[in-house]
Order: sequence, then structure tokens, then C-alpha cells
Amino acid sequence: MPVVHITRRERFSAAHKLGRPEWSAEKNFATFGKCSNPNWHGHNYELWVTVKGATSAETGFVVDLSALSRLLHEHVIDQVDHKNLDMDVPFLKGVGSTTENLAVAFWKQLESPISKIGGTLHCVKVQETENNSVEYFGG
Ligand code: NI
Repeated sequence: MPVVHITRRERFSAAHKLGRPEWSAEKNFATFGKCSNPNWHGHNYELWVTVKGATSAETGFVVDLSALSRLLHEHVIDQVDHKNLDMDVPFLKGVGSTTENLAVAFWKQLESPISKIGGTLHCVKVQETENNSVEYFGG
């Protein structure tokens, strides 16, 4: 059967702050811009998860999208939505909430559960703003 890539989008809203505590506010602002605001700020994030696999001869699906959505909620969205990414999320403790780091951390959360519904995780894309997004393909 042909191998197809299928993508599910989920959305979440969360607070965060970027910066190194040992740096001055000026250096943090020069490096991280508005995302270094000391009193936090938020984004409306989008998470795009692409799964690859052979289409089933029986269903024509790569994976059941409702099962994929449930899995994304259980392992990522329910843990990050309306949370402070730097303080409230156990799997992000000490990670540093750049979009790059979020994509890698979400991959680690999702790779094994996605294999259990019969797909192979291909890409985790995290969009922080309309203009900025990151893609991670593992490795
Ligand atoms: Ni930010």
C-alpha cells in the first residue's frame, strides 16, 4: 500500500518567558526580544503533527484521526493549554520554552504513543505566531 503523510492540527494557549536568569534584563531583551518580558506573556500556539504510514486496505486510513486527536490531547494539549509553560508542565521543567525546545519536547511525548496506534511520527510543527514556526523531524 502507498505510504501517506497525514497531519492533524491542535491549538493551545499558554504563557511563557524566555531568558537566562543569570543575564541582565538588557541582555535578555537584546537576545530574546519581547519574549523576555519579566512578567510573562502568552501566545496562541498551533501544534501540527504529521504521521506517516501505509494506508489500510480495509479503511483507507493511515491512522484514525480521532484516535490521533485524543492522543495529542492526552500527551500534550491537556498538559499545556492555559498553563505557564515554564512553571506548570512537568515534562517541560528546565527545558526553556523556545519554540524549538517545545517541538523537541512534544516529539518525545508523542513518538511512542503514536507508534501504538499504528503510525510513525514524521514531523512536529509548533507555530508560535503567524510569522514564526518550527519543524522537528526527530534525530
Ligand atoms: Ni513569547
